[in-house]
Amino acid sequence: ALLDEAPKPLVGRHAIVTSGPTHEPIDPVRYIANRSSGRQGHAIAAALARLGCSVTLVTGPVTLPDPAGVETKHVETAREMMAAVEAALPADIAVMVAAVADWRTVFDEGHKIKKQANAAPPALQLVENPDILKTIGHHAQRPKLVVGFAAETDDVEQNGRAKLARKGADLIVANDVGHGTGVMGGARNQVHILTPEGTDTWPDLDKDEVAARLAKLIADKLAT
Ligand code: CTP
Ligand code: CA
Repeated sequence: ALLDEAPKPLVGRHAIVTSGPTHEPIDPVRYIANRSSGRQGHAIAAALARLGCSVTLVTGPVTLPDPAGVETKHVETAREMMAAVEAALPADIAVMVAAVADWRTVFDEGHKIKKQANAAPPALQLVENPDILKTIGHHAQRPKLVVGFAAETDDVEQNGRAKLARKGADLIVANDVGHGTGVMGGARNQVHILTPEGTDTWPDLDKDEVAARLAKLIADKLAT
């Protein structure tokens, strides 16, 4: 009964959250991927749902279960993720947490690439994937609040701010993945919240705690 009385400021709102890596096939047995456990994205989807939000989670391949109370769509590639996100519009909130592979290979045949004696290794021809956050940040059906992540190894705040502008986001969650906590796949995260108004540096927190704080911040921003 106590739980039912918890405040649900996001009732009537719809959020789209991306999570996990994408896998880009090289041939039928190999792929290119980014490092991502999906923990932070899944935790954010669950935290938004706990505030009463209707949530569509679009996730790449992860070993996590689908979060309770969240409509979860499973995809593999960046192009599939882009299509699933656009299909889920309209939304009030977009939180793009996925570690999307920036490039895919030009993949035209369904044959396994074989090693060949005395031949040079195959050269992979890469093409750029769609930028999902940037597309949503400039979309005709742009959600009221667009949130992105920036995992950086250097100049975290400066690189994060450049992304805030370039992607048309309202807020970027930037973290240093170079050393210590925030290392990809870990349980904890130390982030900086970048908005046009300024920077708020949060302490080193459990990813569930980062998710709960971010969901609360999103609810506060939508309320004003
Ligand atoms: N993102 C996305 N689609 C892509 C690439 C990134 O939606 N094709 C999103 C991520 O989910 C994240 C944000 O954009 O919210 C920043 O991702 P990041 O990889 O840091 O930015 P890039 O623009 O790809 O720049 P770079 O990798 O060169 O730092
Ligand atoms: Ca990238």
